[in-house]
Amino acid sequence: MEQNKPNGAECSVGSAPRHIAFIMDGNGRWAKKRGMPREYGHVQGAKVFRRIIEYCGDIGIEIVTVYALSTENYAKRPKKEIDTILTLFEEYLTDAERDAPSRDLRVCFIGDRSIFAPDIRERMAALERATMSRKKRLNVAINYGGRTELVAAFNKLIASGKTNVTEADIEAALYTAGCPDPDIIVRTGAEMRLSNFLLWQSAYSELYFTDTLWPDFTESEVDKIIADFKGRKRRYGAAE
Ligand code: FPP
Repeated sequence: MEQNKPNGAECSVGSAPRHIAFIMDGNGRWAKKRGMPREYGHVQGAKVFRRIIEYCGDIGIEIVTVYALSTENYAKRPKKEIDTILTLFEEYLTDAERDAPSRDLRVCFIGDRSIFAPDIRERMAALERATMSRKKRLNVAINYGGRTELVAAFNKLIASGKTNVTEADIEAALYTAGCPDPDIIVRTGAEMRLSNFLLWQSAYSELYFTDTLWPDFTESEVDKIIADFKGRKRRYGAAE
């Protein structure tokens, strides 16, 4: 049935995922266990983020999406913690700008950018433009919320004059327009929920939950997750 087809992310049994998404949870608990402030966990988490992105590229994963900050985190966490995450984000942006000429990586930002100063927004857009023809892709979800994304998409469609929409129209109006849906969503940190992440795009994603706190997450766990994924049979609603 046409409507139940995933957005280009189909993989046959035994093949590696094209697109892995990570909910990088557990930074705060990791820091607390060490008697350190939560911000220390995010600093460590940012190092692991860089390593895991690099590794996924090295082993041929085409698309990686990371949940760096949700709209709910932004609204509800203390300013000091949010400022740390935004500083880590800006440091990543600076490094990505430096590496862009020599790296086969398209960098995209998904989320509500209104929290950023105009100069940061312009740098984000410039990096997206400069890397848009690269084959591998990283989506950084920052101030992202799945419901906010859907509301923005519907409003965009209404503003364009549409009175009747298709799945393809909605997909084209999302932050992730043109990007295949995630084959697998991995959440670290022992919680088993999606927390408003990629609500539309996760319709047929496999889910993987691990107790590992994000700052302890390793390349060998990525290998284990990929092996697990290869053993799963995806039916997209079809019979066995
Ligand atoms: C969830 O852990 C993690 C976050 C809200 C922030 C994730 C940020 C990073 C990994 C570093 C920054 C990376 C970029 C690209 C800017 P939590 O704080 O909810 O942990 P807890 O559940 O143990 O409290």
